Amino acid sequence: MIYLDNGATSFPKPKGMMTAMEECIMKYCGNPGRSGHEMALMTGEAVYRARQAVAEVFGVKDGSRLIFTKNTTEALNMGIRGILRDGDHVITTSMEHNSVLRPLKWMEKRGISQSIVRADRDGSIHASDLEKCITSKTRMMIVTAASNVTGTRMPLEEIGRICRRHGVLFMVDGAQGAGSMDLDVEKHHIDLLAFPGHKGLLGPQGTGGLYVSPDLELEPLMQGGTGTESRSRLQPSELPDGFEAGTINAPAIIGLGYSAAYVNRIGAETIGNYEEALICRLEERLREIPGIRLYGPEPEKKTGITLFNLNGYEAEEITGLLSRHYGIAVRGGYHCAGLAHKTIGTWETGAVRASVGPYNTPSDMDCLADALRELAEAEEKGRK
Ligand code: ALA
Repeated sequence: MIYLDNGATSFPKPKGMMTAMEECIMKYCGNPGRSGHEMALMTGEAVYRARQAVAEVFGVKDGSRLIFTKNTTEALNMGIRGILRDGDHVITTSMEHNSVLRPLKWMEKRGISQSIVRADRDGSIHASDLEKCITSKTRMMIVTAASNVTGTRMPLEEIGRICRRHGVLFMVDGAQGAGSMDLDVEKHHIDLLAFPGHKGLLGPQGTGGLYVSPDLELEPLMQGGTGTESRSRLQPSELPDGFEAGTINAPAIIGLGYSAAYVNRIGAETIGNYEEALICRLEERLREIPGIRLYGPEPEKKTGITLFNLNGYEAEEITGLLSRHYGIAVRGGYHCAGLAHKTIGTWETGAVRASVGPYNTPSDMDCLADALRELAEAEEKGRK
């Protein structure tokens, strides 16, 4: 299969990730932070190294400010519910995933109001439009690093500076950008960064995390065992332990640590540049096919995503045909981001997303373009 659904989850993974996970499970997987015996200590040390490797990706100096979660959605919920209180106002964008928009909708019941800034047709956001919505009640801005629909990269540094100037917290959804673009908590003035382990960081599913800036106080989503202060009925407030209640998924986190170190060795921006070159090649070919409609900005302004429709076919139909007849995996439909589709004009149709990763090749791009040309020609001939 030619895998072009890296926006949903990356595939394949670095081989060493499997070895790291297998070694943990087979040789030493104790419960980290829960005991002083050799196996628990070894696991604890490996989890510590994983935290450091992930921290390095985002320029986080103190790894303890990084809480492991099971995915970006959990991290976003942790930040949103852990900070916002009755009367607060939040500013976000129309390019957000439902993992931002649904928790915010839910929070309306708790007295939290929101302004949703509409992006341009190519998914671009203007930082000044966000600034105009700031009121005395604004507590937080939440912006995706890059749209999961169009790949459009957002002006994080500029938005971060605006937030600092106005004393507003800046939360970034790194679901698409993490591991393939410059995403630095200091440079971009980020207070909260939610990220997945299983996409650009090339780790296993079931991993993700939330970075919380120093001195920022957050309420935990869950209370329970932390391996610390066991005689107290109160939830410890220290990061990360107080926010990782219950036994963590140590083998997966250790696998993520391996993959994050692998990304650090290559460099997230190097990976991003490679993916951009693939998308350039693909879109150049697609523009020559009659009936193809491309959405989103030019490749330099986005992450490794191409979004398109082909006249005469439904988006989901293309996905099925590519999978069954050409062995190509893409994602069609609305990508859990209906409002983003409304913004770019595909509310009625949805669209097909091809999303690349560091293991894709130029020949993968050619195979997709050849397949779509065949489908376009079949449609022209009345699909005989
Ligand atoms: N949010 C993921 C996607 O965009 C699953 O496909």
